Amino acid sequence: MSASRGIPARLAAPEPTWSVETDVVVLGSGAAGLSAALAARPVRDVLLITKDTLDAGSTGWAQGGLAAVLDPNDSIENHVEDTLAAGAGLCDENAVRTLVSEAPTAIRYLMHLGASFDPGAHGGVALTREGGHSHRRIVHAGGDQSGAEVQRTLDESVRLAGVRIIERAFGLDLIIGADSRGRRAVAGIRVALLDENGGVESVGTVTARAVVVATGGYGQVYASTSNPPAVTGDGIALAIRAGVPVAGLEFIQFHPTVLWRGAEARGQQALISEAVRGEGAILLDAAGRRVMAGVHPQEDLAPRDVVAAAISSRMAEAPAGIDDHVYLDARRIENFADRFPSITASCLDAGIDPQHELIPVAPAAHYVCGGVRADIDGTTSMPGLYVVGEAACTGVHGANRLASNSLTEGVVAGTRVGRALSWSLPGDAAPAAEEAPAGLLDSYHRSALRTAMSKYVGVLRTPEGLKQAQSILDTLASNVSPAVVPTRKAFEATNMLTIASAVVAAAQARTESRGCHRRIDVAEPDPAWERHLVATLRNGHIEVQ
Ligand code: SIN
Repeated sequence: MSASRGIPARLAAPEPTWSVETDVVVLGSGAAGLSAALAARPVRDVLLITKDTLDAGSTGWAQGGLAAVLDPNDSIENHVEDTLAAGAGLCDENAVRTLVSEAPTAIRYLMHLGASFDPGAHGGVALTREGGHSHRRIVHAGGDQSGAEVQRTLDESVRLAGVRIIERAFGLDLIIGADSRGRRAVAGIRVALLDENGGVESVGTVTARAVVVATGGYGQVYASTSNPPAVTGDGIALAIRAGVPVAGLEFIQFHPTVLWRGAEARGQQALISEAVRGEGAILLDAAGRRVMAGVHPQEDLAPRDVVAAAISSRMAEAPAGIDDHVYLDARRIENFADRFPSITASCLDAGIDPQHELIPVAPAAHYVCGGVRADIDGTTSMPGLYVVGEAACTGVHGANRLASNSLTEGVVAGTRVGRALSWSLPGDAAPAAEEAPAGLLDSYHRSALRTAMSKYVGVLRTPEGLKQAQSILDTLASNVSPAVVPTRKAFEATNMLTIASAVVAAAQARTESRGCHRRIDVAEPDPAWERHLVATLRNGHIEVQ
């Protein structure tokens, strides 16, 4: 095996000692992966592998809910328009129409599977509003525990359906072969089985006719994020290493309001759902002035990129000497604890009573609008490889996702790919011997990487800051070595380096402000940039076109 300095084209790991065969392997266990596995299972042998437990990803943490047109006063056209407006010129309208048209069916499907959504006052399900939505169309469960209900429902369903599940199994790299037309095609995936501490127990190969990547985003590349620890961009990095185009990685959506717990707070932060503003809360700065008045016609319910940027600009002015958080005033919401039980618990844990006190909040990395290029059926440029959910760039989210479109997308796109694979599988690909330089980044470097990303590649970006971030990442890349002990944390650190380098390269190249990519030096969108940038790995470096 040849060795790598710089971003490796293969994760270094022991030689395989076992092999398994299946029809469809699904990598990842959030809404998208579970929906894909469930839809393919009645006909196919499906193996679902996940590096942690089934519920360790982002889905279970989603608070707000699932967007779908269910109110007769709303319309598919309204939802399409809101999604396109939030996406700031980079949405694919056909993909958006498919998502929005199938969203109500997806909600009913989840209910048939046993999901229990909060009931409305006049029958049907309750609908709330979030930023960028012109109508009430967010379905929720347990008040603010919507994702947990979706995860529970789908977990149970895949187990009942007989999907084979392997937890604590890390998808390292695709096994590439050639299909009957001689094209590079997926033949399977190399997998490391992990022990409880994240050490490698063994490595094996899973051969399959189709590999569905549904590993979510990469919020953990930042020091402060709403995402749980498992969200390290593994599937997107794996695609980059396999030479599959990834796009839009610079569009990282910062949620405007995570609970601020001090300047030193690191890792996953408690989300204060946008639905809190949907129910009437407003943002105030430390001097008591409204943050969103006069900024956007929808004020506190403007699209998320607008609110996060307005908060960041206001913090930079340091009103009343405070430059690292603002406040959410939710005191006018009646029975706050009943409507938002888990947010109430997080606030109380921080010593704040949200019914009577202001909640300190700040933006944090939340959602990735880009990913592996795929259509809404998960199809990519590589035969046999499908990508769904947050790991995919389907054009549904453009340059900025509309709130609560993502769980819905996971269920719609996951089900579409699973159904397509149950109808027909791609042709066999004969594995070819591909020799690629292998290496790993020691997990020790994760902290420097995250600090650099939060400091220089946050809500508001400058050319100098991006250059600084690139220089730090280049230094980290020079530490990549095949001698690093293979562990879950080292695999993740290497994936994080791969992704962060692609984010920074794309953010440097995109000399405009659009959606959730905001540059201080060029504050406006440039029509010439109404297109996606594609990142590829070449000789240990990321290049963008
Ligand atoms: C929220 O509840 O504010 C998050 C919902 C989302 O990100 O779609």
